Amino acid sequence: MTCSRQGILITFEGCDGGGKTTQLQLLAERLKQAKRAFLALREPGGTDIGETVRSILLQKKHSSLCAESELLLFEAARAQLVHEVIHPALNEGKVVLCDRFMDSTTAYQGAGRHLSLEAIDVMNAFATDDVCPNMTFLLDVPPEISRQRILQRMFSDLDRMEGEELSFYERVRKGYLRLAATHPERITVVDACRDKQTVADFIWEKVQCILPTDE
Ligand code: TYD
Repeated sequence: MTCSRQGILITFEGCDGGGKTTQLQLLAERLKQAKRAFLALREPGGTDIGETVRSILLQKKHSSLCAESELLLFEAARAQLVHEVIHPALNEGKVVLCDRFMDSTTAYQGAGRHLSLEAIDVMNAFATDDVCPNMTFLLDVPPEISRQRILQRMFSDLDRMEGEELSFYERVRKGYLRLAATHPERITVVDACRDKQTVADFIWEKVQCILPTDE
C-alpha cells in the first residue's frame, strides 16, 4: 500500500461509543485555527451514493442482510468515497479526516463477523485504490464502556450495527488491537477512557508531527 505524498489522510477508528466523532471534530477545529485546508468525512457515507448505501446498512428493517452483502456494501461506499472525494482532495494537498476507513471492515466484518481476513485485505486494497491512511487513531475503550455510552445517548434508538451483543464488540475490539500491533507505524492506540480534552491534546501533538511545514 502507498501512503499519499501530497495531502494527508488521517483516520479515526474504534468501537461504537469510543468518541471518534468528537475527536475528529476537535481536530478539525484545531486545523481550522491553524489555517490548514482540510476535509472531514465519514464512512459509510460522504457521497450521495455512499449515503444511500449507508441507509441500507444501518436501517434496522434490513436485519436479513447477510454478512457477505454487508461487507460488499461497506466496500462499495468506500470505493465511491475514495474516487469521488478522497483522491481529489489528497491531490490538492488537503488534510483529509475520515471517521472510519478500511480498518473498520477488518475489525467489524473480519473479527466481528468472522469473514475471511485475506478476502477483506484484497477488497480493502481494491476499494481504496491502495490509498492508505498516513495516521490512524484507534480510540480504545473496553466494550462494556462503549456499550454504556451508546445506551446513554439521548436517542436510544439503536441502528442495525449497534444492536449487536457484547461478545461481538469484544471480537471487534480484539480485531482492532491486532491490527494496531501489526501496523504500529501507522496506528496509534489511544486510551479513550480519559477526558476528551486530554485525548484531543494527545492527538494534536501527533498530528503536528506529520503536517507539512511548507504551506
Ligand atoms: P455510525 O453511526 O457511523 O457509527 P459510529 O459513530 O460508531 O462510527 O455507523 C457506522 C457503523 O458501521 C458502525 O457500527 C461500524 C460499522 N462499520 C462496519 O461494520 N464496517 C465498516 O467498514 C464501516 C466503515 C463501519
